[in-house]
Amino acid sequence: MMSKLIAPSILAADFANLQRDVEMINRSEADWFHIDIMDGVFVPNISFGMPVLRDIVKHATKTIDCHLMIVDPDRYVETFAQLGCNILTVHYEACTHLHRTLQLIKSHGMKAGVALNPHTSIDLLKDVIQDIDLVCLMSVNPGFGGQSFIENTYNKVARLKELINAKGCDTLIEIDGGVTDKNAKQLTDAGADVLVAGSYVFKSTDQEATVKSLKALANS
Ligand code: DX5
Ligand code: ZN
Repeated sequence: MMSKLIAPSILAADFANLQRDVEMINRSEADWFHIDIMDGVFVPNISFGMPVLRDIVKHATKTIDCHLMIVDPDRYVETFAQLGCNILTVHYEACTHLHRTLQLIKSHGMKAGVALNPHTSIDLLKDVIQDIDLVCLMSVNPGFGGQSFIENTYNKVARLKELINAKGCDTLIEIDGGVTDKNAKQLTDAGADVLVAGSYVFKSTDQEATVKSLKALANS
């Protein structure tokens, strides 16, 4: 079985020491960089945009997993490809023509992800799951780091795993929001493949050791 992956979220980094924090992730056992782009319209917060992403990519040596919390993401797909994103995730709730958006992402050489808000049912993916490389299940309402984990997520992971198996596809399941040592193992046991962790990693005193222990728990 493929090992379970850890994707620290840069949103919780110290933006005045961004190179230092990017290099910490490079050195650590983390697998991906999770990059949260917020537009202040789809979510009630603004994170950072292209110039900051460009400087992160300059130093990062691992997969760039970019989570767009923006309306009408088609407008920027080409730009994010040029900036060096490897995986581009759009929100189900922000795409009127989701199938078209997924094809557009793939046509630019990136893996295509779809994020679901906590209220959005897994069942809505039935007719498109075969076109999705990664489903990001939001385990908090998107917009902010440091929120607490919504327990119904376990149930959604299990149902999503059933759907993926039933269709015989190899879509990855990513969990985003409130991930800690308290829920990591239960999430991967339920079928999650990738755990995003922001505050849990960056607010800890030994960040590299925290990544290492989270990865061990996820794979235990
Ligand atoms: C929330 C973002 C998350 C966030 C996770 O809108 O999509 O990626 O950075 O942060 P924590 O792990 O602190 O909940
Ligand atoms: Zn995210």
